[in-house]
Amino acid sequence: AKLEMFVDELPDMPKVKAFRVKKGGVPVTARITIGMYQKKWKFHRDLPPTTVFAFGTSNETATVPGPTIEAIQGIPAYVTWENHLPPEHILPSDPTIPTAASRLGGVPTVVHLHGGIHPPASDGHSTAWFTSSFRSTGPSFVSPVSFYPNVQEPGNLWYHDHAMGLTRVNLLAGLLGSYVVRNPYLEEPLNLPSGPRFDRQLVVFDRSFRTDGSLFLNSTGNNPSIHPQWQPEYFGDAIVVNGKAWPKLHVARRKYRFRIINASNARFYRFHLSNGLTFVHVGSDNNYLYKPVASTKFLLAPSEIADVIVDFSRSTTDSAVLANDAPYPYPTGDPTDEFNGKVMKFIIRKHKTMDPTEIPRRLMVHPPPAAHRAVKTRHIAMYEFESATGEPIHLLLNNKTFDDPVTETPKEGTSEIWYVINLTEDNHPLHVHLGLFVVLEQKELEDLDEFKDCMMKMNDAVGCHLGQHARGKKVAVPKYERGWKNVFKMMPGYVTKILVRFSMLKTGLAYPFDATAEPGYVYHCHILDHEDNVMMRPLKLIA
Ligand code: C2O
Ligand code: CU
Repeated sequence: AKLEMFVDELPDMPKVKAFRVKKGGVPVTARITIGMYQKKWKFHRDLPPTTVFAFGTSNETATVPGPTIEAIQGIPAYVTWENHLPPEHILPSDPTIPTAASRLGGVPTVVHLHGGIHPPASDGHSTAWFTSSFRSTGPSFVSPVSFYPNVQEPGNLWYHDHAMGLTRVNLLAGLLGSYVVRNPYLEEPLNLPSGPRFDRQLVVFDRSFRTDGSLFLNSTGNNPSIHPQWQPEYFGDAIVVNGKAWPKLHVARRKYRFRIINASNARFYRFHLSNGLTFVHVGSDNNYLYKPVASTKFLLAPSEIADVIVDFSRSTTDSAVLANDAPYPYPTGDPTDEFNGKVMKFIIRKHKTMDPTEIPRRLMVHPPPAAHRAVKTRHIAMYEFESATGEPIHLLLNNKTFDDPVTETPKEGTSEIWYVINLTEDNHPLHVHLGLFVVLEQKELEDLDEFKDCMMKMNDAVGCHLGQHARGKKVAVPKYERGWKNVFKMMPGYVTKILVRFSMLKTGLAYPFDATAEPGYVYHCHILDHEDNVMMRPLKLIA
């Protein structure tokens, strides 16, 4: 049976403040506790309730996605993440990939604040996992309390599980939520749509359900003799926004701000509105752009965040479908169909409403990418290894697994140039913890096969004459993605040059905490099935 589209209203997730307001309206540091619970969640009017893992301040209030955590720039927060999950997982996993596990049972979890600038011990390192009541903890677990200084710029972050080898199943089960950092002094003068009605998060992911409502994840892999369960990419049949499959939202004829988070495991979305309305981008990932940029279509990889304004007063129709036409896997996979090609529907009121908001000419000034100040150049090559039948066995960065000794050791307070060389057929969204980067250039590799053969043998980009191969066509970075980002799409057969900054964005100074401490950070592909097997490497800052 197929689910009817656009029957459920778009929910707004509960909000949790990561600060306290003192008398006189002064925000101060807060301690909050958020738990992970197993519960039932209704994804669609006609679908029986689904067993999920949900974040919340209690089992009753837990939701999928979890509550939206609201922080204020410069006001630190202490978050205790508690695991109240049962002994057994609701989804299959695969012991043949490096996986967190406790001899005592329980579901290992650890929470990473994606886009956050915080000490390593609070970064949700993959081996810092813990089970229910902290009965078992992983080797790099430090403390049940995460310290988030909220020193990053105002913008959009999200939090999600990051446990070794379980990230794809823990997120599928529901362990994700959005986190917004605000700075009223900087943002109110922008006069963008604000308040809970007109400034909304749209957390988008795809899921497959059985007719009894349960989440469906294939328990047999593509290559079962090697990996009994692991598959190279998870794609679901239904598109879910804020926890409802294909929801609808009634909107007034005025401007709205949508913070769109792609929380899918592997699905890229190329969004457009069926009535041709434009998106005006004001931010990408966790930073504002310098100035607004309009588009009618844009591509959002897993874990990328688009922050857009849509002006429904310009609509010539009384409804609009937010649609998707990105092939899956991206870019060489199947075309979208009538189900995964639709995301949600806006039902637009007849008459215009008063709209006091405006899109300013300038948004936020950030430092330009000073490539000449980079102190180090690195090459990061992406590989896929296949079985004799052509099925992926695993994906690696620089031909190393996660446990190989750390090789990326940037000096705190500096910038580096990274050439990310994608030798696979898929686009991989590369995410760097802590660091922010600007994409400087994307160039196609010529004589790819020859270069790839050499790299497979030597993993030495210079020795394999990268310079002579990186001579193909250049693809421009879209204007709305030219700011500081924490994840970007690495095109297959291309080398992407990025400038990564391991310092405070505005001052260029070292971080206001010890960023060189154990257990360090990580960088990885944000296709979760790749990250788990094992397209992830340690990242250790040095003083
Ligand atoms: Cu959004 Cu390392 O993750
Ligand atoms: Cu990948």
